[in-house]
Amino acid sequence: MTHRIGVIGGDGIGPDVVAEGLKVIAAAGIELETVNYDLGGARYLRDGVVLEDETIEEWRALDALYLGAVGTPEVPPGVIERGLLLRMRFDLDLYINQRPFVSTADAIDPFDFTVIRENTEGTYAGEGGFLRRNTPEEIATQGSVNTRHGVERCIRYAFELAQGRAKHLTLVHKTNVLTFSGDLWERTFNEVATQYTDVTTAYNHVDAACIYFVEDPTRYDVIVTDNLFGDILSDLGGAISGGIGFAASANLHPGRVSMFEPVHGSAPDIAGTNTANPIAAVISAALMLEHLGEHDAASRIITACENAKTLKGSTTELGDAIADAVR
Ligand code: NAI
Ligand code: MG
Repeated sequence: MTHRIGVIGGDGIGPDVVAEGLKVIAAAGIELETVNYDLGGARYLRDGVVLEDETIEEWRALDALYLGAVGTPEVPPGVIERGLLLRMRFDLDLYINQRPFVSTADAIDPFDFTVIRENTEGTYAGEGGFLRRNTPEEIATQGSVNTRHGVERCIRYAFELAQGRAKHLTLVHKTNVLTFSGDLWERTFNEVATQYTDVTTAYNHVDAACIYFVEDPTRYDVIVTDNLFGDILSDLGGAISGGIGFAASANLHPGRVSMFEPVHGSAPDIAGTNTANPIAAVISAALMLEHLGEHDAASRIITACENAKTLKGSTTELGDAIADAVR
């Protein structure tokens, strides 16, 4: 079965790292039918288009989206982030943000864990507003929106994932202070847990989790948390597992079109130099294959990427080395 994939190379190093990801997928013997979408900062500067409604509708019929990075220094901040990245997340209801973290090969205490971040609610839902803006009496509120439905589907996904791994799931929140949203998360977590009795559970306050990420990450298998905590924790996770060149992510709606991208941006400072590390984009490609049910190819690519973490070379040389390893 051929998978139909929308490819958004984007700006800067985006198209280069995506090309390596597609090269590695082909080397793993997986056939894709790709549809290219010219979107991002460069496109916006050319004709003002960020993302058209018809494009979103077309995407719904695809199997997955593979994105490099979007954004150019000439475009004011927010235009592309809100108009393209956030819009994809909300319009396609990509309610799971999944990021894997694996220690580097030289680690004394190797770790391998995944953060599941709720991706559509919390403080990022856009609730709130200003009163008396730009006056000495101004007020700004930005509430955290947590629905039982949204929290439960996220927690359920995390339990399912843990079942296929080391069967351990940690809820991260701040229940001691956020006594309303934290209560909803904790109650939902405990209720869903009764349906996954083979998964052991733990709870960490988010501030304690920051310490454990640095001092004892081996304790984690799968973590589930809300949008804001997940955003921050997953950048910390990236920092302890080799940095931006290795950080991959999946934006998922299980059973529907989902989006896969490296965490890094378009890196205008190194664009066009063939020096960008393609590994984050290649791991993102493996997450996409996982989502498409190509488990064997996905795990071969992940293993090849782990082994390639210490290699030096250009973007294309690293892509070739990983492709050779998976062949
Ligand atoms: P950035 O991630 O593009 O770059 C930060 C630093 O990391 C730079 O020094 C860059 O050279 C380096 N870097 C990034 N990826 C690398 C790779 N694969 N290999 C080697 N070095 C790498 O973040 P920055 O500079 O804040 O943003 C640049 C542009 O990218 C902006 O327009 C921003 O809005 C956009 N952006 C887009 C994202 C996306 O498409 N999801 C995410 C983050 C930023
Ligand atoms: Mg972030």
